[in-house]
Amino acid sequence: MTNCPVTTEVSGRAAAFDPFGDGYQQDPPAYVAWSRESEPVFYSPVLDYWVVTRYDDIKAIFRDNITFSPAVALEKITPTSREAEDVLRSYDYGMARTLVNEDEPAHMERRRALMGPFSPEHLAHHEPMVRRLVREHVDRFVDDGRAELVNQMFWEIPLTVALEFLGVPDEDKPTLREYSVAHTVNTWGRPQPEEQVAVAHAVGNFWQYAGEVLDRMRERPDDTGWMQYGIRTQRELPEVVTDSYLHSMMMAGIVAAHETTANGIANAVKLLLENREVWDQICADPSLIPNAVEECLRHNGSQAAWRRITTRPTEVGGVALPEGARILMVSASGNHDPRRFEDPELVDVRRDDAADHLTFGYGAHQCLGKNLARMEMQIFLEELTGRLPHMRLAEQDFTYVPNTSFRGPEHLWVEWDPTANPERRDP
Ligand code: HEM
Repeated sequence: MTNCPVTTEVSGRAAAFDPFGDGYQQDPPAYVAWSRESEPVFYSPVLDYWVVTRYDDIKAIFRDNITFSPAVALEKITPTSREAEDVLRSYDYGMARTLVNEDEPAHMERRRALMGPFSPEHLAHHEPMVRRLVREHVDRFVDDGRAELVNQMFWEIPLTVALEFLGVPDEDKPTLREYSVAHTVNTWGRPQPEEQVAVAHAVGNFWQYAGEVLDRMRERPDDTGWMQYGIRTQRELPEVVTDSYLHSMMMAGIVAAHETTANGIANAVKLLLENREVWDQICADPSLIPNAVEECLRHNGSQAAWRRITTRPTEVGGVALPEGARILMVSASGNHDPRRFEDPELVDVRRDDAADHLTFGYGAHQCLGKNLARMEMQIFLEELTGRLPHMRLAEQDFTYVPNTSFRGPEHLWVEWDPTANPERRDP
């Protein structure tokens, strides 16, 4: 079913909008600059979605999660082929509502019941582990003079932290890595028909694995971890924390906590090294790092766009939308809106409103894990600026997994002169 108003109303640029092409992948806010300027709410026939690009309009949508339901947040943006559907069915794939795509009142009851492990006291327990992991990984390549940071560190550590936070034993990390990328492509990407079947097998395996891990966790419900916390809460509130929720969250939670953060730090280091004077500023004054993390999430965040569906006829930015209109909010574009951020293209780690970015969403569903992600990103930057302040970007082309939402370079090559490492001068 289409929610296109009248085909003739679609402008040429709206018709050409392609979030799976290289233009969007390389730089989403630049790709839709024309829209921010002159057509901030447009219908995309490629997606059958309404696309929203200005800060205030996006925030208004996030704020009203009754009119703008999150139910489509994890829906497949590219309908799957029959063959791929059959493959998924053969694995009993049944991804359902978690938190991020649940409507009220169920969502808020569940969010309240499950937010304990996100408190600052709980999160503080994870900090020494994150610091130790980052130091150990830097030790492995600090004398090499060259590293590919995504594969050598940025992917692995947030995955380990995500598994620890969820309470999952981490012996299956390599398999999970493959699975979680498949889930991203399955949900937010545009796989070709032949690729869809392979993706469906990986997603099906991921789903079954998630179920097995959950069964093992149920045998040890007193272990630490967010999933075990959910299993214990289920005893008191079985209607709020359902079996379907726990199984779906076991799978969605890994992606929510892992890829977002891995991409977030890769984007941040890329942005800072491309703006050398800013990197040098934080090397000279590490107290700037917490705000630098916010500025990186604003300027080059790892969540480029998020979705909603209207539950009644309404309007956004003066454009009338029918009930059932699917909406893609390009939050990366809102973060570059000059109506909201002064000189938005400038990377300014002293910007006092950097944290008002939309990368963690906003309102009732705002990212629950944002402080864990911030802590990880801060520690990465502290260790890298402290130990490799002379690091620079190597010559390279950046590639991205084509999808609307999860955004970060697949590889990030950096190089430096190891004889100039500060720890060689001052061990
Ligand atoms: C929700 C982004 C890290 C757990 C969200 C949403 C976004 C987001 C855009 C939807 C917000 C909305 O609809 O208003 C990010 C980014 C991250 C990150 C950019 C890293 C840089 C994490 C981590 C965890 C996590 C580390 C878990 C440990 C969640 C959960 C929700 C959520 C549980 C659902 C909240 C709800 O619907 O009530 N995140 N996230 N996220 N995130 Fe994150």
